[in-house]
Amino acid sequence: MLKSIAEAKGYIKVALNCEEQNKKKYLLASACYLENSKTQDNILYNQMAHYLFLKALALKTKQEATNKADSKINLIKAYKNVKIGFDDICGLEEAKKKIKEKIIYPYEKPEIYKIYKRNAGGGILLWGPPGCGKTLIAEATAKEAKAVFFNIGISDVLSKWVGESEKIIANIFEQARKQPSVVFFDELDALGTQRNEEENSFTRRLTNTILSQIDGIGTKQGKILLLGATNRPWNIDDALRRPGRFDEIVFIGIPNNKTRGKIIQMQLKQKPISKDIDLDFLIKNTNKFSCADIVALCNDAINIPLTEALEGKQIRKINFNDFSIALKSRKSSIKSWFEKSKNEVLKTNNKDLFKEVFEF
Ligand SMILES: Nc1ncnc2c1ncn2[C@@H]1O[C@H](COP(=O)(O)OP(=O)(O)OP(=O)(O)O)[C@@H](O)[C@H]1O
Ligand SMILES: [Mg+2]
Repeated sequence: MLKSIAEAKGYIKVALNCEEQNKKKYLLASACYLENSKTQDNILYNQMAHYLFLKALALKTKQEATNKADSKINLIKAYKNVKIGFDDICGLEEAKKKIKEKIIYPYEKPEIYKIYKRNAGGGILLWGPPGCGKTLIAEATAKEAKAVFFNIGISDVLSKWVGESEKIIANIFEQARKQPSVVFFDELDALGTQRNEEENSFTRRLTNTILSQIDGIGTKQGKILLLGATNRPWNIDDALRRPGRFDEIVFIGIPNNKTRGKIIQMQLKQKPISKDIDLDFLIKNTNKFSCADIVALCNDAINIPLTEALEGKQIRKINFNDFSIALKSRKSSIKSWFEKSKNEVLKTNNKDLFKEVFEF
């Protein structure tokens, strides 16, 4: 919930009067100003947040140790060893191929790349409607490359204390360099472009931190594979898309007939299903559904006999009628994304680069 400026002023008052509490209160006040600076696009609030944060930093209390522990926890949450690989992802063949050629093989088969004088480096920006597999394929890349997966949600990082977000990014890269890693920046558009023009804004500084970390990937020691994702690539700072950075863009679009069929089969695997389930009918009736919509539809259908059984009715197989009922209340969730995106692409004069938004 958005904290008000009045609340911030309250914290400052307590901070000024109570030595024990002051560091925490300055930080809370800084957070209030930061939130309000983002929602109201107010540079003065932004500066106030910065000032309060620096004031809090200058106070050496027990809080210091706790803050350090906090950043460690953030880091631990950010990485994991992934279990799903490309075989667990239906469709997206073109994207799998591009990821292999651009970021996996240069590290796995450096001798071949050497012959043709092609260096490792640069990353892929995955873009497209929600729920179609961007995060999933980024995770799976880690397993394919036998690497650890670092998932950096930009909006999470931005919500950290001023100055702290840069430290978090630097920390993650430090950890990532220690072993083969996939570093994945999710919601890259949260960095924005217009706001970034403000020379000293948080987002500008965070963008610069990210740029300085990703420049040199492929030349520095340690294997880091770079992936990013966004629903609004036209809103991304051009600097992030220059050579050696997110220099290849790959559209992760709506699943075709074959892929939808595979997802349904995957969802029903090892579950009690009746022979009357008509896969072709389901494929036809899920046209323009996202992958996540299809998963949700299958769950809705499965839940019908499950709920009945929980209510004490006879245990039975999932049948075609369950899917017919489920289909009545599930529609494609991505129509609005395409509509909104078409307007944004036209406004930003990027029709050729993002032509896929006109294909819905
Ligand atoms: N190609 C796929 N094959 C099988 N399941 C998929 C596929 N793509 C997506 N899914 C299912 O949909 C869910 C959502 O996918 P994912 O999180 O990768 O979407 P996304 O493109 O990152 O969306 P967002 O833009 O909202 O972040 C996955 O957890 C998975 O269950
Ligand atoms: Mg995602």
